[in-house]
Amino acid sequence: MADVRPRVWVSQPLFGDIVGRLREHFDVIETAAVGKHPQDEIAAMLASCDGALVTLNDRIGAAEIANAPRLRAIANVGVGYNNLDVPALTQAGIVVTNTPDVLTETTADFGFALMMAAARRITEAERWLRDGQWKQWSFETMLGGDVHGTTLGILGMGRIGQAIACRAAGFRMRVLYHNRSRLRADIEGTCRAQYVDFDTLLAQADHLVLVLPYSPAVHHLIDATAIAKMKPTATLTNIARGGIVDEDALADALESGRLAAAGLDVYEGEPAIHPRLLALRNVVLTPHIASGSLATRRAMVSLAVENLTAALGVGPRAGDPPS
Ligand code: DGY
Repeated sequence: MADVRPRVWVSQPLFGDIVGRLREHFDVIETAAVGKHPQDEIAAMLASCDGALVTLNDRIGAAEIANAPRLRAIANVGVGYNNLDVPALTQAGIVVTNTPDVLTETTADFGFALMMAAARRITEAERWLRDGQWKQWSFETMLGGDVHGTTLGILGMGRIGQAIACRAAGFRMRVLYHNRSRLRADIEGTCRAQYVDFDTLLAQADHLVLVLPYSPAVHHLIDATAIAKMKPTATLTNIARGGIVDEDALADALESGRLAAAGLDVYEGEPAIHPRLLALRNVVLTPHIASGSLATRRAMVSLAVENLTAALGVGPRAGDPPS
């Protein structure tokens, strides 16, 4: 008897109990290895599948779907989808989904924490202490910059940017933002955020947080020229995508004191880290975990499973009455 169940590929181990729901409708092929799979392996997997559940590790474009006649849907576990060539996939009739909303608050928490850690030198101070360098209490040990009462600059004012702005109110910060388009006045009011142009944002922010989606148009947007417009006492936090920052220029600025500190969760060549950034004291480095609370990562996988099921036409669709 012919195989009538659609087949889906899960590109790395996710939460087994959640991904297991796919088995109700589909034959599921799960790749056991975590990490970036070679492009020809991705193409080979897609060749025999109707759908795929993938992560930011998987780059998929025209070449990878060239021999995938059955492929109808790709569900990305993540809000960012710059790993997928959406125009090429859409043109081929493939539905592409992502996981917005469920990670907003968790990611905003982390962005705020990273900004605070950079400003107040928290990880640097801990390393120093663990190294046995704390010999006596001193008035001038590890002095950092304030967060409360300063100006927060948010570049990219989508859901996560807005959630960060809301947190800033508790720290009595002035919030400036720049975005492709200006928010409605009522949303600006809720976020207590003021729209400014890019150069004003750079010049006035004490703490600049990057939360914008990556596209080639914003590649190295934060380069030497942009950094030169920032205050030397400022911090830069990136929870968006590594490619937005020119890491050489950032390393120059952090080494020379042109910028006080940085908090980075994302990197251009991740998981490889720029060696000069690794060597610096005044940068907090984390391994792309901004959305990484257990509950949120589970919610992301759950939503991606629902998205894939719905896109392949077997699950509930948006607007369906609850069962
Ligand atoms: C996202 O959702 O885009 C994050 O970067 C990965 O969790």
